[in-house]
Amino acid sequence: MKYFIRTYGCQMNERDSEALGAALEKAGFLPGSEEDSDLLLFNTCSVRDAAERKAKGKIGYIRKLKQKNPNLIIGVTGCMAQRLGEELLKELPHLDFVLGTGQMQRLVPLVNEIAADRRRRVETEPSVEVLESMGDHDAAPSWHGQIAITRGCNRFCSYCIVPYVRGREISRTKGSIITEAKELVAKGVKEIMLLGQNVAAYGLNGDTRPPVSGHSPFAELLEEMNEIPGLLRIRFTSPYVSYFNDRLIDALKNCSKVCHNVHLPLQSGSNRILKAMNRQYTAESYLAKVDEIRAAIPDVTFSTDVIVGFPGEEESDFLMTREVMNKVGFEQAYVFKYSPRPGALSALLADSIPDAVKEERNQILLGDLKERVVQKLKSLKGETVEVLLEGVSARNAARWSGRTSTSFVVHFEPDANCCPGTLRKVRITQVNTVSLFGELHPE
Ligand code: 5AD
Ligand code: SF4
Repeated sequence: MKYFIRTYGCQMNERDSEALGAALEKAGFLPGSEEDSDLLLFNTCSVRDAAERKAKGKIGYIRKLKQKNPNLIIGVTGCMAQRLGEELLKELPHLDFVLGTGQMQRLVPLVNEIAADRRRRVETEPSVEVLESMGDHDAAPSWHGQIAITRGCNRFCSYCIVPYVRGREISRTKGSIITEAKELVAKGVKEIMLLGQNVAAYGLNGDTRPPVSGHSPFAELLEEMNEIPGLLRIRFTSPYVSYFNDRLIDALKNCSKVCHNVHLPLQSGSNRILKAMNRQYTAESYLAKVDEIRAAIPDVTFSTDVIVGFPGEEESDFLMTREVMNKVGFEQAYVFKYSPRPGALSALLADSIPDAVKEERNQILLGDLKERVVQKLKSLKGETVEVLLEGVSARNAARWSGRTSTSFVVHFEPDANCCPGTLRKVRITQVNTVSLFGELHPE
């Protein structure tokens, strides 16, 4: 039996898909293509309406494959599966099953049951057993691996569907994460990305209050990860700013393998909008945290998520967001147009900002970002940086690329010793509007 998984949405979904694929392969399935597989899985996202429409469109379209192969089993997993459940079976008559976010561990038995009796099924009851199924990885991963350390979210930001579709926040044990990391390193992984909806809430047992000064189980995890021989780099995404306390800043400073790049979702720079979003910080406290992190790690770079066009966002609110973004000087930003999600609290408010205004605000922020990034890239000319080699550049097969700990990508001509997942020094010789080019130092 062959399987094919199409993934929508965030890194957490990518990671879940890897674990689902690994579980299928353990059970004897082989990876196939969309056309020749007997099991097609759609691991879906619900965070914005567009993501759901895209997945539904695609699932609708593949109906014809079932006419060719009557044994084909089609399933939907992930956030849209959790949110819509039974409704999806009604809407898509060729769908065989809907498996929720808390039921990943049921995939293989479920597929076997359906293959035997061809009955359609919906399983969306959450369970903690799902934690055990989160550790499966590809048999031969690349130099980069990802580990999900928590599941779910307890923050309930008013616009966000995640707490409803991924359930209450639960943390895995430190022992299971360290074992998983060591296994990945033994398979050749050099960089590990730790994933969680709010990674800095790791180990807080779902407590919705940010950790007190001096206390951070996530910092302890980073410190233990830092001791793993053979692992070169550790990244993480995303910490909620209020959970980024002094203890965590210390860990960042003291752990040589933890990269100097922090993804710190801002969402808005207006205190009025932050409050309406149920974000538990102000623009001022956000900026103060950025300063505190920068004071400890001077070369740190920041990236962020921002939503434009939240209900009631006035021009003045938007300008505050623009100002905070310019003050921080993000190295990367993901700007999203607000999308009401039925079930999340803000969906009760009128979606008052016209799409054209959302689009305009989106473009302004991206324009600011581009300008700032060009300046930043130019300032790197002449510097020698250390990069982790990633492999052949996507756009030019004659070049290789590598990434700095601060997350800048540098392109260069390779030498005979180039190998993905190794650290090398590169002198930056040329900068254009989006990319850095350099010369590799001989080893
Ligand atoms: N509309 C637009 N963007 C959203 N995000 C989450 N929910 C919504 C929504 N309803 C964005 C947030 C979050 C990122 C993953 O997606 O910025 O950080
Ligand atoms: Fe959603 Fe807020 Fe949780 Fe992030 S922290 S997943 S935005 S509820």
